[in-house]
Amino acid sequence: MTFSPQAITEAAVASFAQCDNPRLKQLMQSLVRHLHAFAQETQLTEAEWMAGIQFLTATGQKCDDVRQEFILLSDTLGLSMLLVAMHDGAQHGATEATVLGPFHTPDAPALANGSDLSNGAPGEPLYVSGRVLSAEGKPLSHAKIDIWQADAEGLYDVQRSELETQRRARGIIETDAQGCFAFWSVLPEAYPVPTDGPVGQMLLSSARHPWRPAHIHFLIESAGHQPLVTHIFREGDQYLDSDVVFGVRPSLVGQFAQHAAGTAPDGRQLSQPYWTMAYEFSMQAS
Ligand SMILES: [Fe+2]
Repeated sequence: MTFSPQAITEAAVASFAQCDNPRLKQLMQSLVRHLHAFAQETQLTEAEWMAGIQFLTATGQKCDDVRQEFILLSDTLGLSMLLVAMHDGAQHGATEATVLGPFHTPDAPALANGSDLSNGAPGEPLYVSGRVLSAEGKPLSHAKIDIWQADAEGLYDVQRSELETQRRARGIIETDAQGCFAFWSVLPEAYPVPTDGPVGQMLLSSARHPWRPAHIHFLIESAGHQPLVTHIFREGDQYLDSDVVFGVRPSLVGQFAQHAAGTAPDGRQLSQPYWTMAYEFSMQAS
């Protein structure tokens, strides 16, 4: 029996016809249609698809407890940000969301509001303060704020094998009764996504740079509201217009102010220059 290319596609789509989960059936049939259309459009060769299988295999093999190469692949192909943009509730007045990225960990230390979460991370001191509000402007007390960022060398703690399981420039704080929060950290710097794996090879082979503009990650949770996954980017960064994961939104660019040594807003005495950044987050009701 011979099949035309169209008949093969139709047979593969029809093979899911008995699936009793309608959403799974829709996803699988659509996936088959689009995969087959991709192969037809590009006249994909068997050797090229084998290279693709080897690439996907290597992507999976690069993953471990703290390295998520598949998230990086999704991010660098723009798929992660597309899903964020499709489902973001920011049109209702909430802070815009952006990608989670591959460096969130579930074990960040819980710290008191106002704490220094840098824990030895290299970088100039940075004092971040602000409020967490409902989309209507009501302060949200006891909102949980999970924070993580790269240091002055552009590295996350999990990328430093010498730290083992030590966490730094990472922590979880809670807003106070007025919805206010503050913490000390270090000034984030731009960093390249990891280029020592298959996704990095894909970027370099495609004449794409691997850089992300400097930012701080936030995951904010408050009862009765949708979790907010976002970043605050550092204004003036040279990569704001070419983020390798397409995550920048103008509303998420924060104003970072540099200060001479002296007394910080919380009374801390600094013997070196330091930075401040303030931001108000608005949460979408669930
Ligand atoms: Fe990041």
